Order: sequence, then structure tokens, then C-alpha cells
Amino acid sequence: MNRRHNAAGSDHECPVQKEYSRLAPKYDDKWSFYVQATLRQTLARIEVGSGQSVLDIGCGTGALLEALEKQYPDITLAGVDPTRKMLDVAGERLSNKVRLERSWAESLPFEAEAFDIVVSCNMFHYIRQPNAALQEALRVLKPAGRLVITDWCDDYLTCRICDLFLRVFNKAHFKTYRKNECVGLLSSSGFDHITIDSYKISWLWGMMTATAGKSP
Ligand SMILES: C[S@@+](CC[C@H](N)C(=O)[O-])C[C@H]1O[C@@H](n2cnc3c(N)ncnc32)[C@H](O)[C@@H]1O
Repeated sequence: MNRRHNAAGSDHECPVQKEYSRLAPKYDDKWSFYVQATLRQTLARIEVGSGQSVLDIGCGTGALLEALEKQYPDITLAGVDPTRKMLDVAGERLSNKVRLERSWAESLPFEAEAFDIVVSCNMFHYIRQPNAALQEALRVLKPAGRLVITDWCDDYLTCRICDLFLRVFNKAHFKTYRKNECVGLLSSSGFDHITIDSYKISWLWGMMTATAGKSP
């Protein structure tokens, strides 16, 4: 099984890879509360059937894939992330059955209609070309497949403040979205049956989970 696809260039080339190469060794400890809370909210909105296939885009250190692997031992799992050091941590915690590829959301190294479910957690605010990434997710989904995205929600004032701060001071950050912007992006990228739940996981973090479908 190929666990590394080197389509993402050197980790020193871009701000996202620089940022996550630096964070990788301490990411799980430092962000434990946040990752576990968003992971629970995301899992609660994913319906995985027996034998199905799931792709995690921006899988980072693999926490969501690990939870899916434990909860559904008979499914097929894959994860992509552009940052080698994040994938190295994921590789340590996951079984060899999970396919890990080094790649960006905007250009996925999979054939069309490969997955029943595509999921992405805490990653969307880094994407420079959101429509291209969503169209890639649509491409790799099977007909009637489901997309589930969890990320910050700009409808919360605290998130809008974080977004503005990070746009100025953090080169890796790109943009957070309001629910209605997210609906617009998903529908203009070809998704239907879109629902978005927003919720807070702490006084600071206001989140949303969007679920959307590919037509049968
Ligand atoms: C905050 S971490 C989230 C990791 C994991 N999903 C989690 O919830 O713990 C963001 C991850 O997104 C990845 N990332 C950033 N931009 C990306 C893109 N355009 N395509 C795919 N992954 C990306 C980063 O390398 C990083 O590992």
C-alpha cells in the first residue's frame, strides 16, 4: 500500500506546510480539547454504512481516521494532507490498511467516484481555491455520496475576530465563512441537499458542520 504520495512539493515552500511542519510534533497535545470536540461533532453527523469508503481531506495527524477505524473496522479509509510531518504522526497511529497520500485538497490523487463519504475537519479556512477543492471532493465522491465539512463559523463574533487577526498575522490562514457563504460555495460547486449546523464547543470556538450530497 502506497502511504506517501509526494505531490505536495517541499514542506518549506508554502506557509501552510511551514506552519504545520512546526506544529506537528506538539499538535495532538496542544490542540487535544479542540480536536476531540470537533471530531465528536463531525462523527455525530457522518453515517457510515458497512463496507463503505471514507476520505479525510486535510487529515493532519489522523485523529478522525483513527476514530473511524476503531468505530467501523470493516470500512476503507484514506487521508490526504500536504504536510509530511503531520502525515508522519498519522502514519504512526493508524494501521497499514489506511491509505495516506501527501496532497492538496485542490488536486486529489484519486480516481473519480472512489469514495462514499468525503470528510474534512478544521481545514477549510486554509484553502486558497475553495471552489476547486469542493469540485475535487465532488469528483471523487460516488453518485449519492456525502460530503461532511467541519470548520469555524464566521456567524460567531469570536470567529470573525480570530479570522481578522489571523489574516493579518498568520500567513497560513486564508479565510473563514458564514453559513450562507458556505451554502453558496457548496451549491455553486455542484452539491445539493445542503444542511449546516452551527454550535459552540467553548466560549471562543464557534463551529459549523456542513453536510451536502452528490446527485445519484
Ligand atoms: C488544523 S489542522 C487539522 C487536522 C485534522 N483534520 C484535525 O482536525 O485535527 C489543518 C490541516 O490541514 C492541512 N491543510 C491545509 N491546507 C490544505 C489544503 N489546501 N489541502 C489539504 N490539506 C490542507 C494542513 O497541512 C493541516 O494538517
